[in-house]
Amino acid sequence: MGVTFVLLAAGSGERLGAKKPKALLGVGGVPMFVYSLLQCNKVKFLSQILLVVPVGYEEEFRKVLIKYRIKNVDKIVAGGLRRVDSVYNAISAIEKSEVVFIHDAARPFVSSKLLKSLFNDVKKYSAVTPGVPVRSTLKSCRRGFVEKTLKRDGVYEIQTPQVFKIKLIKSALLNFKSKKVDFDILDDSNLVELMGKKVKISLGDSLNFKITYPDDLKLARLIVKSWK
Ligand code: CTP
Ligand code: MG
Repeated sequence: MGVTFVLLAAGSGERLGAKKPKALLGVGGVPMFVYSLLQCNKVKFLSQILLVVPVGYEEEFRKVLIKYRIKNVDKIVAGGLRRVDSVYNAISAIEKSEVVFIHDAARPFVSSKLLKSLFNDVKKYSAVTPGVPVRSTLKSCRRGFVEKTLKRDGVYEIQTPQVFKIKLIKSALLNFKSKKVDFDILDDSNLVELMGKKVKISLGDSLNFKITYPDDLKLARLIVKSWK
């Protein structure tokens, strides 16, 4: 079975406020997108890896791959304006595959163990996402005051990689393109939900957090320091 891993690294990292695209920022002296590629090397079922980068940054990413002797990237694809556009470009660049993993480069601590368990799940279900039950109390707030306390039962914080049978994610992207959706699509399984299809939740891993704000980057750097 052909299995493609798409690593999304085409965001700018606006909320982080750095000068470089977020995926190129160093964590423990290594650009954060490299960590996921190293975990991919530990599994046997991937047949190709596509790296999606911001337009104009192809060479810079290529140089990092050479510097860190990363040889498992088969294709570098130019990203799009929104995350969903980057996903579309990547999916369009896949030739032969039955399954696709779509992962945020901003989650450098994905483990090969999680990749394996998601691969097992996608044999049974056509759309799988990792998630962890929320730990905190959730409240909706408006103008600086609490509006109400939300129910936490069955509420998950969703992660990547999300894994799909390629036919399903392709038709979900086409369905999305054909409709006027007036909200931001934040993850790929949402595209599948919009078609009324089921998405399987698989237990994620709290270390697999996303680097979004400067504090997340600080935490990631501390974690890598603790390994040494
Ligand atoms: N991403 C992408 N193409 C885009 C936007 C995002 O490939 N047009 C990728 C990012 O590189 C990241 C992942 O999607 O690995 C998750 O997105 P997010 O954390 O929002 O990253 P950014 O969009 O870069 O950050 P921000 O929203 O703060 O600008
Ligand atoms: Mg973003």
